[in-house]
Amino acid sequence: MSRSGKVTVVGAGFYGSTTALRLAEYDIFETVVLTDIVEGKPEGLALDMNQSRSIEGFETKVIGATTTADGAGYEATANSDVVVITAGLPRKPGMSRMDLIGVNAGIVRGVAENIAKHSPQAVIIVVSNPLDEMTALTQLATAFPKNRVMGQAGMLDTARFTYFVAEKLAVPVSSVKTLTLGSHGDTMVPVPSRCLVNGQPLTTFLSESDIAELVDRTRNGGAEVVALLKTGSAYYAPSAAAARMAKAVIEDSGAVMPVCAWVDGEYGISGVYLGVEAEIGKTGIRKVVEGNLTDSELSALKAAAEAVRAKQADVKDL
Ligand code: NAI
Ligand code: 2OP
Repeated sequence: MSRSGKVTVVGAGFYGSTTALRLAEYDIFETVVLTDIVEGKPEGLALDMNQSRSIEGFETKVIGATTTADGAGYEATANSDVVVITAGLPRKPGMSRMDLIGVNAGIVRGVAENIAKHSPQAVIIVVSNPLDEMTALTQLATAFPKNRVMGQAGMLDTARFTYFVAEKLAVPVSSVKTLTLGSHGDTMVPVPSRCLVNGQPLTTFLSESDIAELVDRTRNGGAEVVALLKTGSAYYAPSAAAARMAKAVIEDSGAVMPVCAWVDGEYGISGVYLGVEAEIGKTGIRKVVEGNLTDSELSALKAAAEAVRAKQADVKDL
């Protein structure tokens, strides 16, 4: 089997470490680099992951590197093809993702500048919250072309919607297709008109009120996990989402995924990072894919765009 490419995961907390392990277990990358500012943590986790290689049967090498805010340690990440940014605080029960903006903006800006310096050709996948704003900030701080910076949210929110539908109907998740667009927050737009169960519209199986309940649960999917965990936020489904995006980049697969991408005219919306479907490849976002929406779904998407546009305009000062 041939392996190629280097992926860096910044932040070796729950999200970052599970993402690094998933990426290593794909066994498609030459190297996975995991970094953190907590001295020894990324090196320890990398050692542990490497020791699992003979059991799980993968040869991708995992390298851990402690970094500092002034950029020491970033040499280990040099010339990465893909970088996943997970550095930052997660929410606590009762907090919104937006409550994290002040502290996480400082962290993400510093990380983005160091990544731009050491991996000027990388495709960046942002996951730190608040997601839509941190994605916009990363593009500003790196000055990378907008197609080379995207955020992870839609893959996760869609997977949650799929799971809730499958549970409700007691069918395999593989028979369900759902979609969420919009923001990774209050203006998330689950799209029932694009949901199918065994190829049939969701409305064939569920009443409007049942669908509304699942839409609401999807919108609160992250908060539901946070409330149960009491400390920290979800990471198994989130890491699966980010890892699949990184895989699509390195394999130049052209997979169409719901991601946070720069929108430039699609759906009549321009000049904002927003959750939409996009074709992913080696250059990052190859193109935004515009699908059919009902009138109310389209207005909800436009409302989401205006809500995140206002917040994204502020990030340049953070
Ligand atoms: P965590 O607290 O377990 O890990 C965060 C890690 O970032 C810590 O190890 C910390 O030392 C590290 N860190 C802080 N500053 C750093 C810097 N300058 N450079 C490198 N590392 C640094 O948190 P967790 O659960 O891993 O979540 C990480 C972020 O991902 C949070 O902001 C969370 O809200 C977000 N998240 C986003 C999701 C999405 O769908 N976009 C889903 C789940 C979480
Ligand atoms: C999630 O949706 C908190 O954004 C994080 O799980």
